[in-house]
Amino acid sequence: MSKRIAVIPGDGVGPEVVAQGLKALKAVCPKLEFETFPWGSAYYQQTGQMMPADGLDVLRGFDAIYLGAIGWPTVPDHISLWGLLLPIRKRFEQYVNLRPVRLFPGSTSPLLGRGPADIDMLFVRENTEGEYSGAGGRVHIGTPNEVAVEVPVFSRMAIERVIRYAFERARERRHHLISVTKSNASRFAYVLWDEVAAGLSSQYADVRMERVHVDAMAARMVLRPQSIDVVVASNLFADILTDLGAALQGGLGLAASANLNPEHRYPSMFEPVHGSAPDIAGTNRANPIGAVWSGALMLQHLGFTDAAQRVEAAIARTVREGKALTPDLGGSATTLELGDAIVEALLP
Ligand code: IPM
Ligand code: MN
Repeated sequence: MSKRIAVIPGDGVGPEVVAQGLKALKAVCPKLEFETFPWGSAYYQQTGQMMPADGLDVLRGFDAIYLGAIGWPTVPDHISLWGLLLPIRKRFEQYVNLRPVRLFPGSTSPLLGRGPADIDMLFVRENTEGEYSGAGGRVHIGTPNEVAVEVPVFSRMAIERVIRYAFERARERRHHLISVTKSNASRFAYVLWDEVAAGLSSQYADVRMERVHVDAMAARMVLRPQSIDVVVASNLFADILTDLGAALQGGLGLAASANLNPEHRYPSMFEPVHGSAPDIAGTNRANPIGAVWSGALMLQHLGFTDAAQRVEAAIARTVREGKALTPDLGGSATTLELGDAIVEALLP
């Protein structure tokens, strides 16, 4: 059966990399139908909104959302992101933000002497609440005694569902899960997180679970990356750690993500991690691999497992051969040329 995909190319390099992702997806899977929406910061300039008032209702009818990037210097970031990206993640209960961190053979990590066997991690980021709850406010605005409060929110239900998901993924991999918190300084939220993790751990006796504080985790990713398999962490902590992860795997341009509603009750959303990159937007120099790889994660989620594996293998082959790499990977190819090379590598 065909699957309907809503495409939101968005801002900056978004449209450039999404075009390459669509090429690969079309080459490998005839069963996808695409509809493109011009939402984002340019749309905001014209209409005062990042997407139409019924945007979420429109998206609700699709099987998945394929997104480029949101954010542009002319619109304050908290407005653009709370006008489009974050409402989609929250409203569609995309409670898992899945971010693979994997060093492809042929690409170099900034970690001296580390190879593909050392860097192969899977981050499971809580994606609906935590430090991104949106709860808070400002009083006495503009006066010297102005106060701002930003309140993290942690619910047992949301902690449990995301950690359970991480345990399931760990079962399919190396049976090791690291739960990241900061429950020494925090007295409430991360302590609850630890309790829920401990409770679930007894249900997954075949998975070894470790608890690591986020500061120590940052150091461990650099010093002992080979000791890391699956990681589960709160929204903000995993946001930060996955940028580090992206650097370890050779750069932000490579990093892919899937915002998943694992139950398929709502559409899931697939986007590269890199953002709109205003400094290189429009120059045909952005690395499309993060977007193409996110497309592979979408195929996987929609049940096109073979096609997903083919796309990932084509990315790996293109990186290994190293003939058409963008400047961030040390090459001189354009976005388009790297996209073409991936499509070529897909063909038998
Ligand atoms: C990401 C981004 C977003 C986030 C921003 C743009 C709100 O950094 O997807 O990692 O923090 O979730
Ligand atoms: Mn981020």
